[in-house]
Amino acid sequence: MTFRTSLKTLAAASLLLASAFNAQPLRAQSALLQNAPGRRVLSLNGRWNYIIDPYENGFYDYRREAFDQSKSGKGGYYDNAKPSTKQETELIEYDFDHADALQVPGDWNSQRPELLYYEGTIWYKKSFTLKPAAGKRYHLYFGAINYEAHVYLNGKKLGMHKGGFTPIQYDITDRLDPSGENFVVVKADNTRRPEEVPTINTDWWNYGGLTRDVFVAETPQTFISDYKVQLAKGNMGQLAGFVQLTGEGRAGQTVTLSIPEAKITQQVKTDGEGRASFTVPAKKLTLWSPQTPKLYAVTLSTGTDQVQDRIGFRTIETRGADILLNGKSIFMRGISMHDENPLIPGRARGEGDLRMLLTWAKELGCNYVRLAHYPHNETMLKLADEMGLLVWGEVPVYWTIAWQNPATYQNAENQLTDLISLGKNRASVVVWSIGNETPLSEPRLKFMSSLAQKARSLDDTRLISAALELHRTPDNVIHVDDPLGEFLDLTSINEYAGWYWGGKPSEITKYTFDIKYNKPVTISEFGGDALAGYHADAETRWSEEYQEALYQQQLKMLGTIKNLRGMTPWILADFRATRRQHPVYQQGFNRKGLISSTGTKKKAFYVLQEYYRQLAKQYDGK
Ligand code: GCU
Repeated sequence: MTFRTSLKTLAAASLLLASAFNAQPLRAQSALLQNAPGRRVLSLNGRWNYIIDPYENGFYDYRREAFDQSKSGKGGYYDNAKPSTKQETELIEYDFDHADALQVPGDWNSQRPELLYYEGTIWYKKSFTLKPAAGKRYHLYFGAINYEAHVYLNGKKLGMHKGGFTPIQYDITDRLDPSGENFVVVKADNTRRPEEVPTINTDWWNYGGLTRDVFVAETPQTFISDYKVQLAKGNMGQLAGFVQLTGEGRAGQTVTLSIPEAKITQQVKTDGEGRASFTVPAKKLTLWSPQTPKLYAVTLSTGTDQVQDRIGFRTIETRGADILLNGKSIFMRGISMHDENPLIPGRARGEGDLRMLLTWAKELGCNYVRLAHYPHNETMLKLADEMGLLVWGEVPVYWTIAWQNPATYQNAENQLTDLISLGKNRASVVVWSIGNETPLSEPRLKFMSSLAQKARSLDDTRLISAALELHRTPDNVIHVDDPLGEFLDLTSINEYAGWYWGGKPSEITKYTFDIKYNKPVTISEFGGDALAGYHADAETRWSEEYQEALYQQQLKMLGTIKNLRGMTPWILADFRATRRQHPVYQQGFNRKGLISSTGTKKKAFYVLQEYYRQLAKQYDGK
């Protein structure tokens, strides 16, 4: 699918801009286009030529000066230089078009054996034809690039982005080549660094590259760039939200919100900044829930633009120990999962991978999933809406973050803002998690409580949580008094009795819990490794029987927590983890999955499935 336009207009605009462009600072990323995949798009998925560049030869000259900061701005691989004559008189020591190609979306580690452990820069290049139509704008959109990305179009820098799990987007309308022939070059660098988010130490594979969809989205000159349409906080009879227009004609525009099946049509007028908020009575809605995942067709339209979405409406709040979905107390029967297809280890590549993971969760009897430890693919949230699964979304503020580095905090806040922006219209999303297992200190409390406050300012309709720290005393009491708990709606803990501490599974029911906060409690992790097919007695570590006994005893022990209202055991499926190198039992995989890396269900899967079957009867009466 290509776009058409008058080349004259384009030529004038691009010449005007090209001359001034080099003098401009790097263009900051434009705000994320809400529901970008729902637009008319030109997909750039497929084979991208690539160059491995561990010495950053394509970015720095031999004196380690960045080519793109030099006077000419030229010299880097992003020029995609070609010899001007057949004699190849110029010295050019790279050539994308004769280089090998990687599949996009997809991490590089799982596509080439020599790249499995690679950490550094890989350059990607893709040519595309785009004949832009007059009066349209074009937005280059990457679903995610892990970890640091420098993006260039037709040899000119668009910007730099940090964060491996949230979208990157640039308005390229004025940078398209008049000929219609364009090329995009990306420098993707997955090097781990202490001051980044996540930091250098994690328990998942550092998959690098263009790991999610890439496309160019078309919008009118003045377009609907953002919107939120949800139930007002705690009010099942009223919609609340906003719409934001971008472009010259954004002010004073009439926007129509239409939800035909709910007999709602409401017009609002945008202010001088192109924004309009609204509240709309909504008496006859069928509320969204895991049992009835009702979605409504919602249309927002202006004189020049129209966007469609499918949105569910529900309330989520806490009252004392209870979590109330649409005013009714629930138990969140969950499971944790990484963004990885265990059958073809590597970042989940698309809807098929994601649907497979969520179907396994449904088979387990879940009404809830913890999308650990970073923002998952936007499609995952839409599938959860459709399939009736509550979602815990999370930013990778994980373990030993550089708490006192302002740039680190800003990075975490940016990723949290993008996570919430992507998920704000998804009924399935009920929890925003600001982090996981972060060690107690004053700087950590300041960092995390600020993040909690930021999350609430961005979205006051969802619950805020994090996986908190616990500590044990010799009298076998597990204490949960992490000061961060004060700032959260749920008291969530990762607890590994029977695996990392506390003896054998048969011994862990000796523990009792002392939890400081009178809030709903969810167990954000428990579990233990098992090599699928390895059978022994219940006291033999790594066997399926050990993991099975651990689940049986954990569920007994956790049943003593009176405020227990949810859990997401660790984890749905085995996943690649560099820290897990036992040559017999792990081979570079974390084996805490209830499902193996070949799709086999382990014995513990059926323990949890039966437990959830009983809970469903108790809470859902089915
Ligand atoms: C931690 C951590 C997980 C990790 C798990 C484990 O709690 O949150 O990311 O994989 O425990 O040790 O297996």
